[in-house]
Amino acid sequence: MALVEITDPNAPMIYNGIYHLFYQWSTSGAVWGDIVWAHATSTDLVNWNHHKIAMVPSEPFDIEGVWSGSATFIQGKPIIQYTGIIKSNQWNYQVQDMAVPKDLSDPYLVEWNKPIEYNPVIKPTDGINASAFRDPTTGWKGPDGIWRTTIGSKVGNNGVSFLFRSNDFIHWNKAKEPLHWAKDTGMWECPDFFPVAVDGKEGLDTSVLGHSVKHVFKVSLDDTKHDYYTIGTYNPKTDRYTPDEGSIDNDSGLRFDYGKFYASKTFFDHEKKRRVLWGWANESSSVADDVKKGWAGLQAVPRTVWLEENGKQLKQWPVEEIEQLRTKRVSLRSQVLKGGSVLEVLGLTASQADVDVKFKLPKLKDAEIMDPSWVNPQLLCSSKPASVQGKSGPFGLLALASKNLEEQTAIFFRVFNHQNKYVVLMCSDQSRSSLEESNDKTTYGAFIHVDPHHDQTLSLRSLIDHSVVESYGVDGKAVILARVYPTLATDKEAHLYVFNNGTENVKMSSLKAWSMKKAEIKYLKDLKHSD
Ligand code: FRU
Repeated sequence: MALVEITDPNAPMIYNGIYHLFYQWSTSGAVWGDIVWAHATSTDLVNWNHHKIAMVPSEPFDIEGVWSGSATFIQGKPIIQYTGIIKSNQWNYQVQDMAVPKDLSDPYLVEWNKPIEYNPVIKPTDGINASAFRDPTTGWKGPDGIWRTTIGSKVGNNGVSFLFRSNDFIHWNKAKEPLHWAKDTGMWECPDFFPVAVDGKEGLDTSVLGHSVKHVFKVSLDDTKHDYYTIGTYNPKTDRYTPDEGSIDNDSGLRFDYGKFYASKTFFDHEKKRRVLWGWANESSSVADDVKKGWAGLQAVPRTVWLEENGKQLKQWPVEEIEQLRTKRVSLRSQVLKGGSVLEVLGLTASQADVDVKFKLPKLKDAEIMDPSWVNPQLLCSSKPASVQGKSGPFGLLALASKNLEEQTAIFFRVFNHQNKYVVLMCSDQSRSSLEESNDKTTYGAFIHVDPHHDQTLSLRSLIDHSVVESYGVDGKAVILARVYPTLATDKEAHLYVFNNGTENVKMSSLKAWSMKKAEIKYLKDLKHSD
C-alpha cells in the first residue's frame, strides 16, 4: 500500500446539517508532495465518510498545487478560497483561487468548480513575496457591507497577514496596511481570525463585532511548526488587529496546544452555537517507521474553543460528541494518594480510553518554591520528568504503560509557589513512552494560571488512542497532544495508572475512565488510508 500522509485541515464547515472537512493529502508517498484536497463528511464530527477527492491541480491557476484554504458562506452558499501554485520561473508562485459547489442540492457537496472566468482571484502584487503568500482565512463582513479576508506572508523575516477587501467575494483589493504583523517571526502560515464572546462559551459567526466581543488572531509559524495566538481588539474602521498583551512569538506566545498541533483552523457551527477547532498532528516516528505503518499525520479530535472568564486566554474541550464512543466505565473512589503511590486503573481498554481525573488543589504552603529562572515550561518539564520527586507533584496519569512501567507516557502537574501565588506546571513526558530509540520523545509543558478562588480542582482529561495522547489540563486551560509508539504497552498489554510522586499527599477527588470504541471512518476504496 502506498504511504498516505495527511496534513492541514482545510475549509471545515457545516452546511445543511452536515459537517465537512477537507484536508491536504499528500499522494506522493513518504514525503510531503502532490497535494490534493481529500474530503469527508459527518453528522457528528466523530464518524466520517470520505468522498471523492474534492480538488486536484488542474488549471493554469493551480496546476502546481492546491494548497490550504477556508470556506465562507456568502448569502448562505459556501465558497472556498485556497492557494494555487502556478507555473513560473519563480519557486512556488502562489495565488489565491476560489471554488464553488457544482450542485448545491447535493447534500455532500461532492463536486467543486473552479470558475475559470475569475481565477486567480488574488495575485501577489504590490511587492508581495510570491513564494510566501498563502492560506486565505474564512472571510468576514464589515459594518460597511464589504468582505475581508487575510492571507499569511512575510516581509523580510517579519511575519505578516495581509488584508484584502471585496464587494462580491470575487474581485479583491489589497489594503495598504496589513491586519497584523510581528517582527522576526518568519513566514505566517494558516492565519485564523475570529471573534469570541466576552461572556459565556457560545461561539460566534466570523463577522460578529461589538463591545461584548474580543478577537483571536492565530498563525502557524513555519519556523517552529507551532500555532500561536493572541487575544485582542479588531478595529473595523482601520482594519487593524491589536493584541491586548503579548505577541505572536517563538517562545512566550499562547498556544492552542503545547504538543503537536499545527496548521489549525476554526469554524462556526451555527447549529450548536460553538466555535470548533481542527488541527493536524504529525508523527514523532522515523520516516522508515511511517513507511512500514503506511500512513503519517492525523487530525486531532475537534475541540470547542471559547474565551476564559478572565479574558486572557482561550479554553478548549473535546467536542461533546466524542463521548458517544465511550463504552465501559470504571471509576476509582475519592481518596488520598500518598507520596510515592502508583495505582492501577483496572477494567478498561487502556490503549483506547477517555480518562477524567480530578485532584484537589494542594495548599500553597505545601508547594515547592518556584525559581525565577524557570521561565520555559517545556524545559522545566524535561528537567523534572515524572521520576523526579517534588513536593506537591508530580501527580497525574501514566498512560500507555507496560506492566512493569518500562514504557509509560506521564501526564502530570507540579504545583509551585511563586511569590505567594500559584503556578501550576502541566507536563506530558514522552521520554519513556517507547523502547524504540528512533522516535522523537520530546517532553512538552505549559504553565497554567490558577486562581484559588475559582479553581479548587486541578482536572486532567486525557484521550488515549494508541499513538495519540491528548491531554486537557485544568478544564481545558492548557492542552498537550503527544504522539507515542509503545512497543510493549499496545492493545491489551496497555495499562493505565494514577500516581503521585511528590512528598506531599494529594487528594484525588474523582477518577472516571471509559473504554472507547473506534470511530467509523470510511475511506475511499481505491486509495485506502490505514486503519
Ligand atoms: C502548512 C502549509 C501551508 C500550505 C500547505 C501546503 O502546513 O505549508 O502553508 O498551504 O501546508 O500543503
